[in-house]
Amino acid sequence: MGLTRTNSKQKPAVAPATTLFLFGAHGDLVKRLLMPALYNLSRDGLLGDGIHIVGVDHNAISDADFAKKLEDFIRQEAASKVAEGGAEPLDPELWAQLASRISYVQGDFLDDSTYSDIEKKIQATGTGNAVFYLATAPRFFSEVAKRLGSSGLLVETDDAFRRVVIEKPFGSDLPSAVALNACLLKVMSEKQIYRIDHYLGKETVQNILVSRFSNGLFESFWNNHYIDHVQITAAETVGVETRGSFYEHTGALRDMVPNHLFQLLAMVAMEPPAAFGADAVRGEKAKVIGAIRPWSEEEALANSVRGQYTENTIADKDVAGYRQEPNVSPESCTETYVALKVMIDNWRWVGVPFYLRTGKRLSARDTEIAICFKPAPYAQFRDTEVDALKPNYLNIQIQPNEGMWFDLQAKRPGPTLDTQNVELGFAYKDFFEMQPSTGYETLIYDCLTGDQTLFQRADNIENGWRAVQPFLDAWAKGCSLDHYQAGSEGPEAADELLARDGREWRSLG
Ligand code: BG6
Repeated sequence: MGLTRTNSKQKPAVAPATTLFLFGAHGDLVKRLLMPALYNLSRDGLLGDGIHIVGVDHNAISDADFAKKLEDFIRQEAASKVAEGGAEPLDPELWAQLASRISYVQGDFLDDSTYSDIEKKIQATGTGNAVFYLATAPRFFSEVAKRLGSSGLLVETDDAFRRVVIEKPFGSDLPSAVALNACLLKVMSEKQIYRIDHYLGKETVQNILVSRFSNGLFESFWNNHYIDHVQITAAETVGVETRGSFYEHTGALRDMVPNHLFQLLAMVAMEPPAAFGADAVRGEKAKVIGAIRPWSEEEALANSVRGQYTENTIADKDVAGYRQEPNVSPESCTETYVALKVMIDNWRWVGVPFYLRTGKRLSARDTEIAICFKPAPYAQFRDTEVDALKPNYLNIQIQPNEGMWFDLQAKRPGPTLDTQNVELGFAYKDFFEMQPSTGYETLIYDCLTGDQTLFQRADNIENGWRAVQPFLDAWAKGCSLDHYQAGSEGPEAADELLARDGREWRSLG
């Protein structure tokens, strides 16, 4: 399923018998993403009878009620997506098979007895392999890891693996990420740690590497001789909604940049790995993120824009501003939008700016990477109607409308010499039948089968935080906040950031 299994004739093997513990079993992630992903894996015949799924949380609930609660939620979600034309209804037989392998351990994450109950569960399933998935609040990551270690649950044998999956956010700045890595590595080895970034579960993100390195065409122009700049955008129409208390301490930079946006940057900018194995791929990614130029605080301020959305009426509906959202201070200075300019100091990219932007409550949902090529010489069009040629872009559309498009100039038919922008394109939906998926299927399957390629290594994470730390440090000393109306394309200051370099953002959507 992951990047390393490239032989399309070979059906992926059924995952090995494993007891999968889901810490934070009553949380949103489990019901919205992890259980539906496990259901989809089961539908695709990739989970055998040896899989046991065990919820771990502090609330008391029986095994049957826990499974029923998940079923009700997933059934309802699937039904509403069917109504919108986007998914399949829950198959009762398939669910029953999966439900027979779901159970529950009640326990406090900080209480040692929880870990003896987990040990007993492993004895009862008779499956020595275990994965501990920490879908908990981040403050529990190191606490749970320490207790898994001290209770002996992380000891592997020749025929039993023990793995730990850590969700995002992995730290809140460089020192906390370094401390969390150190804490994990005290009780387990790097090969037991699976740090999740759900962007790496997206087909379109994995396809960046495959497209770049399986088509000779790309390498010939993939460098600073031909590329003028790169724009990486992750725009959302949703607001902060019920996540105010989390978001107030996080903000757009921490929430999206060192993880998701840097993963996109790494996929586009990394050198070809020697092989599609976990070490080679992750080594190249760590190198390119490590090559992001560390700005001084002054440079960080000059090369960043922080924005926050204000209220507006969108399609006849009143939309609250960030400061009016639940659990948000009416004076909050947390950014819901960020635009940055970063430079990569290596031979391939020297002189090519990478502009990154992400924000909530923008005019369109649009995650894309736009590669802007250097302009053609103008000379031959002098004295014609063509006064300014538009730059060529390669637009890698991550979501929605997944695909890739080249913007080219073509002659508009007629007696005069006039050009028009046209597109050469590939849309996923025209070539592939995509089964409904959450993006977590590949990640869970890869963890069960021991493939770490799509997971972040300690150095990837730390290099990401190292590159954003100057922005955090500079902003902590005071920084302006530019407001933008909900439903707009972001603050004007973000346009000025590019205009200073004689460039402009592509429009959203
Ligand atoms: C999460 C962030 O990691 O990614 C959210 O915490 C954000 O704030 C989400 O909305 C975006 O993911 P996607 O897959 O919808 O682009």
